[in-house]
Amino acid sequence: MSAALQKTRVLTGITTTGTPHLGNYVGAIKPAIAASQDPSVQSYYFLADLHALIKCQDPKRVQASRLEIAATWLALGLDTDNAIFYRQSDIPEIPELTWMLSCVCAKGLMNRAHAYKAAVAENETAGNQDPDKGITMGLFGYPVLMAADILMFNANKVPVGRDQIQHIEMARDMGGRFNHLYKGQFFTLPEAVVDDDVAVLNGLDGRKMSKSYNNTIPLFVSEKKLLKLVRKIKTNSLEPGEPKDPEGCTLFQIYSAFASRDEREAMRREYENGIGWGEVKNRLFEHLDAQLREPRERYQALMEDPGHIESVLLKGAERARAEAAPLMDKLRQTVGLGRFA
Ligand code: TRP
Repeated sequence: MSAALQKTRVLTGITTTGTPHLGNYVGAIKPAIAASQDPSVQSYYFLADLHALIKCQDPKRVQASRLEIAATWLALGLDTDNAIFYRQSDIPEIPELTWMLSCVCAKGLMNRAHAYKAAVAENETAGNQDPDKGITMGLFGYPVLMAADILMFNANKVPVGRDQIQHIEMARDMGGRFNHLYKGQFFTLPEAVVDDDVAVLNGLDGRKMSKSYNNTIPLFVSEKKLLKLVRKIKTNSLEPGEPKDPEGCTLFQIYSAFASRDEREAMRREYENGIGWGEVKNRLFEHLDAQLREPRERYQALMEDPGHIESVLLKGAERARAEAAPLMDKLRQTVGLGRFA
């Protein structure tokens, strides 16, 4: 067995519908880049752009998001000689495997998927005659495509948010079923890894920072825009001089995610001593800006050189396909779709 195969394979996908924000950075990108530096790990990080089509039928948005997300990961220091970084849509074996898995996946399993159930529940609440109104096969089969992403590379660990655990369990189900039906160890059964220690950031309005709430602070906005957004973060009406509670305060929470322990404790004392909200906002801005300035410059340079990003991703795709293609060949033979001679 080659060394690469003995390493723990960690794989995760990023759906390319939005612009990366501070919450994405703290919750996913930063830990993923750090994990990819572990020599005992081979990481597979990819732009889940086929998944993006399920949620977004605005071609300009999908195209822009793919470039922004790729540029963001590169600007933040992802080492693509080490991590295998690719676009899902560059790997034709993935949709092919999706079909094979669809043919062993029980429809009833998909009926139980959270995203599908939520869409049905919404139709029911809205009093729609057809509970499936507006639901595409893409949404219904979303977990099969995700299972193909994971099983294609025999991932051992899949770092995801809580909302995705069910999908990993479904991937295990499909992989196990295929192994059983075709009597072989074709697929490794993946495990979800949910890190409860990573911070989940709040957004401008105090709710979880999320594109769907429209309350995000994009990672690489200009200095001016960053200041403007930080000033928009909701606070209470306590005056300067009045002691303030850092717990549950969005400003403190975002500051903490970017601060050392000492800096955080110093800020906590400032709150106790009644620092004014305007001042906290200035300090948060200074702090974020200092940390984001360099990667922001790299990001801007990358965004101006899409050809470079394209070549990095094509190289990643080539590495990914070097694994996907032979596995797919074997699977074709296994199911009876091998060559005649
Ligand atoms: N569905 C995931 C999300 O929305 C993205 C994704 C697609 C993914 N394929 C994956 C994550 C495979 C992990 C593994 O967050």
